[in-house]
Amino acid sequence: MPRSVPLVHRAPLVPTALLLAGALALTACDGGVHGTPGGSGLRDRDPYFPKSGNGGYDVTHYDLDLAYDPDTSRLSGTATLTARATQNLSALNLDLDGLDVEKVTVGGDPARWNRTGRELTVRPHDDLDEGRVFRVSVAYSGTPKTVTDPDGSEEGWLPTDDGAVALGEPTGSAAWFPGNHHPSDKASYDLTITVPEGLKAVSNGELTASRTSGGRTASHWHTAEPMASYLATLAIGDYDIHRTATPDGLPVYTAVDPAQAAASRKVLAQIPAVMAWSEDTFGAYPFSSTGAIVDRQGDAEYALETQNRPYFPGAPDTETLVHELAHQWFGDSVTPKTWRDMWLNEGFATYAEWLWAEDHGGDSAQKTFDELYRHGDDVYADLWSFPPGKPSGAAHLSDSPVYQRGAMVLHQIRRQLGDTAFRALLRDWPTTHRHGNADTEDFTSYVEDLAPDKDFGPIWEQWLYGDGKPERSA
Ligand code: TRP
Ligand code: ZN
Repeated sequence: MPRSVPLVHRAPLVPTALLLAGALALTACDGGVHGTPGGSGLRDRDPYFPKSGNGGYDVTHYDLDLAYDPDTSRLSGTATLTARATQNLSALNLDLDGLDVEKVTVGGDPARWNRTGRELTVRPHDDLDEGRVFRVSVAYSGTPKTVTDPDGSEEGWLPTDDGAVALGEPTGSAAWFPGNHHPSDKASYDLTITVPEGLKAVSNGELTASRTSGGRTASHWHTAEPMASYLATLAIGDYDIHRTATPDGLPVYTAVDPAQAAASRKVLAQIPAVMAWSEDTFGAYPFSSTGAIVDRQGDAEYALETQNRPYFPGAPDTETLVHELAHQWFGDSVTPKTWRDMWLNEGFATYAEWLWAEDHGGDSAQKTFDELYRHGDDVYADLWSFPPGKPSGAAHLSDSPVYQRGAMVLHQIRRQLGDTAFRALLRDWPTTHRHGNADTEDFTSYVEDLAPDKDFGPIWEQWLYGDGKPERSA
């Protein structure tokens, strides 16, 4: 039977006053249901980055068609977003940091737009009704900027000796494409990137086509699984490319700066072993390919868990490889609802390093925990400076209370649950929220439901939310 459900959803119960307002609006504009602007930023829903992301719509897909030339540092192209209106919209905001906007269309029709700071406000010719799926397309160009984070590190668009790399945690992706740049809105991606012949261009997902003509090479990268925009990457330059597969047949794609090739060979050869251990420990891998991007030292100062293939500034050690691949489950597949929930990424990725050591003849996680508890503040002076569940500000999201103390929270949970139940948690939590978003309260109630007879209150109070160094016996 054909579906007779109307494609456009309208609220069934509308107060008379609003109906009258709607009727008046109908005479003023030709758009049908009267919409309101979608809002800029998530505001108090994410106090760490209140202006990131936007209200009123959900992006389902990004189609980026870009060209970059390292000689001119110029990026140009079109971003086409497919989105669903979550309210009646008269206008919607995208986040875009720098660059020149040339043209905006909604549903193929030219739309008015204006810019203030990182906000690009788009006014479609007709209002967009709640539930409507629409396309917004932005043609733009310019020299993308490098962004300095509140914590002082650099992200956004980073020019390198041989090209450039795009890194987006927490807000840098707005420096190279317009979007709904908040981790709560994940989408699939298609990226076509055109660069001068001879250079490589590597991104997330899988390379589905590559064509050279007229001295330029266009590569098409497809990311089928939902991705938060802070995990999107684009690395342009001179890379040695290796394509292999794990014994299970998962494609492994590595791109290595030739200057790092010798130093990376051994550690990158461990990718299949780290993937096998990670799947054993965290459950089925959530994505359709894996790998790594290894750049020249100094191009960035940190590694990042860019989806499918993490980025490393120089050859990583095994711990860092384990950390970034663990993020594929914790961060990339199960993504924080807000930046406050960062410890769910970094605590798990750090605990993955502890467990890797424990499972490979190194220190037990208990020993790592004990040493941190006793002498941690010799190494990490700020270890007890704030609780993981409530970072003291946007400048501190990459500090040791989020990483090391975050891992210590997980170890306390392990001791309370016992090893078998904790190992089950490590597989079930990412399975439960696979390709979704979760926050700290989702996690604590999930843990409580695992063992209703146990009291996790002291762990939450002291280790997760408490100020200062907790009492040992949580
Ligand atoms: N997530 C990265 C990692 O640990 C580190 C990082 C890079 C980061 N940029 C950040 C952490 C911004 C917090 C905020 O693998
Ligand atoms: Zn990390």
